[in-house]
Amino acid sequence: MLSDALERSRVLSELDRTLLVEAAAGTGKTSLIAGRVVMLMLYGAPPHSIAAITFTELAASELSLRIRKYATQLLAGEIPKVLRGAVTLELLNERKAVLKSAIGAFDEITVCTIHAFCQQIIMAYAVETGLDPGSRMMDGPAADAMFESVISKWLFERLSLQTREGEDPVAVLSKFEPLKVVKDSFDLAKLKLEHPGAGTVSVDF
Ligand SMILES: Nc1ncnc2c1ncn2[C@@H]1O[C@H](COP(=O)(O)OP(=O)(O)O)[C@@H](O)[C@H]1O
Ligand SMILES: [Mg+2]
Repeated sequence: MLSDALERSRVLSELDRTLLVEAAAGTGKTSLIAGRVVMLMLYGAPPHSIAAITFTELAASELSLRIRKYATQLLAGEIPKVLRGAVTLELLNERKAVLKSAIGAFDEITVCTIHAFCQQIIMAYAVETGLDPGSRMMDGPAADAMFESVISKWLFERLSLQTREGEDPVAVLSKFEPLKVVKDSFDLAKLKLEHPGAGTVSVDF
């Protein structure tokens, strides 16, 4: 028997209390939290009312997989190790229908990072916040790649303009200092990204 068995069982049974669980890596926190979510489901909490928030995306996907695994095992009549002591076959038989319907609505459980959770809330208020409801979060590298592809496309189109050839300042400068034009375009675009309101002063000739 584990020396902290009592504390572990509290996590699985005191479902209406706020608990702080602190433990070293590899001691079973993720399993226990997944177990707590399954216990909530077993006792009838609607999946849409459950939120399990993590710090990283990896942790969120691990937690989600483990919740699904434990719930599926239970439905098959098998009690996962973490839940032994908290779930008896008797309880399981009595609650099977509830569990089954919870598994059917599994996609309604929120298991995600703090950032994704906040974004979900903000997106639900797209009108109030003035956000494009189709917009989404990107991590750093993905955002950088998208920025580069937009600027490259813009520059390509700008330099391919056939109409006002000889007049376009970007095209004219490119003939003399192509690398500087590329660098300046990127720098200016970055500046504009950081300061969307920035612009040039209009000059009265
Ligand atoms: N009560 C337990 N008894 C035996 N093994 C367990 C128990 N809880 C978790 N484990 C196992 O220990 C390993 C680490 O568990 P995990 O929940 O990922 O820990 P943590 O999130 O604290 O790093 C996993 O392989 C898990 O299956
Ligand atoms: Mg963990």
